[in-house]
Amino acid sequence: MSIAEAPVTARDSAIQQPQRVAVVTGAAAGIGLSIAERLASDGFAVALIGRTPGTAQAAADAIVESGGAAKGYDADVANREQVDAALAAIREDLGPVAVVVANAAVAPQQPFLEMTLEQWNTIIEINLTGTFNTVQSALPDLVEAGWGRVILISSSSAQRGAPKMAHYAASKGGQLALTKALAVEFARTGITVNTVVPSSIDTPSVEKKRADGKIPSAEDMAKYIPVGRMGTGADIAGAVSYLASEDTSYVTGQTISVNGGSFIG
Ligand SMILES: NC(=O)c1ccc[n+]([C@@H]2O[C@H](COP(=O)([O-])OP(=O)(O)OC[C@H]3O[C@@H](n4cnc5c(N)ncnc54)[C@H](O)[C@@H]3O)[C@@H](O)[C@H]2O)c1
Repeated sequence: MSIAEAPVTARDSAIQQPQRVAVVTGAAAGIGLSIAERLASDGFAVALIGRTPGTAQAAADAIVESGGAAKGYDADVANREQVDAALAAIREDLGPVAVVVANAAVAPQQPFLEMTLEQWNTIIEINLTGTFNTVQSALPDLVEAGWGRVILISSSSAQRGAPKMAHYAASKGGQLALTKALAVEFARTGITVNTVVPSSIDTPSVEKKRADGKIPSAEDMAKYIPVGRMGTGADIAGAVSYLASEDTSYVTGQTISVNGGSFIG
């Protein structure tokens, strides 16, 4: 459904109940922004969380401008106090959370033998502990409602490895294990927990790595992707939209790899 076709409640900039509330971290740009836009067009009131002050609100303003319901919040997902403060503000402004999408991450490259403990810890703290902070802070609302959707955004580096990204791959593998653990722990509560695993998605951060000469051109990358193109944020958002829907009450602990047919098996 396009935003123009969204229900009337989603078109009002004033957030109205009983729209379900979806929280998306790292939502100011890239895949997170595509997910926020898609969930808004699906009729959710979307809380966008961004690290750089003001960026999430600017993205939310654009969604509201297009007819969706959205509001921006600033928080570093590695900082539990900031995450809890953002979640408290979201509950106050929009209501209890029903869907939580842990998307925020950083993906630097460092050869393993040169990687310092501090660099390792930083990536684990943002990508994995940040996921823990976000999900644990939101989850009481889902439990209280007896309905909820937890969706993590992992990476194909957790499935096949990635050179110079041991910390990143380990953090993303941790998300896959966390998905399974939470899926079974909350299986009787009406909450499903699933992971989307992107690969080769053309976002501004990937474009920057390309401009810095760290990765090949989009055309060269496409040669190695069975469907013959790189993915888009909308490709990931489509999978998230499905997992956030009513259709997935019997789908939990699963991984949906959105990768154009790469790494099958
Ligand atoms: N683009 C790809 O090809 C690809 C492939 C595999 C996995 N992924 C995953 O998809 C997700 C989005 O990737 P992207 O390509 O859009 O990258 P991106 O860098 O554009 O987006 C990540 C977002 O997270 C935010 N963020 C970073 N640290 C944060 C923190 N501490 N607190 C709050 N927000 C923080 C950033 O500001 C940014 O907006 C990430 O989890 C990434 O690991 C992407």
